[in-house]
Amino acid sequence: MIQIQDVVIGPMTPLHLPQVLEIERASYPDPWTQATFMRELNASKIAVTIVAHQDDTVCGYIISWMILEEVHIGNVAVASEFRRQGIGRMMMEWLLEEGIQRGCTFSTLEVRRSNQAAQLMYQNLGFRAVACRKTYYSEPVEDAIVMLKSL
Ligand SMILES: CC(C)(COP(=O)(O)OP(=O)(O)OC[C@H]1O[C@@H](n2cnc3c(N)ncnc32)[C@H](O)[C@@H]1OP(=O)(O)O)[C@@H](O)C(=O)NCCC(=O)NCCS
Repeated sequence: MIQIQDVVIGPMTPLHLPQVLEIERASYPDPWTQATFMRELNASKIAVTIVAHQDDTVCGYIISWMILEEVHIGNVAVASEFRRQGIGRMMMEWLLEEGIQRGCTFSTLEVRRSNQAAQLMYQNLGFRAVACRKTYYSEPVEDAIVMLKSL
């Protein structure tokens, strides 16, 4: 068990990537590649990429894009040994507050229909299901639930 007050949120850098990729591969059947993470870290002015860490240990991360008034959540994961301790919620709250500071007025995301844990976290943060994208995901093929929250 960690002390949540010892967990710090900050920008993701290339130094975090080995741990981020380990969490990513353990969290998803269709993980993002190193190249995808690097593209977000290097290329995009709209990408806001954060990690939650305790000293040198990465506990979780979020990739998001802040586009005009929208915060779009692209990827959220917490390492399995750190789950159910409030880190996912803490990162999301940090990011949505950052969006508000930048003038964003709403946030959107997609989540696999079967992913009850993530849907519950998003519902508890005030997101609601607004649409379904048929066969949005591959490996395995699955619908996405689109969720929306006003900021
Ligand atoms: C979804 C995920 C990011 C949640 O991270 P976390 O740090 O464990 O979440 P938190 O501890 O902040 O939980 C916040 C709330 O979410 C809900 N929740 C989280 N995990 C849950 C689970 N396994 N079962 C039921 N509810 C869950 C609960 O409502 C929880 O609040 P509570 O603990 O007060 O009951 C994490 O399970 C994960 O990395 N999963 C794999 C990757 C993934 O599915 N990402 C989302 C893709 S859209």
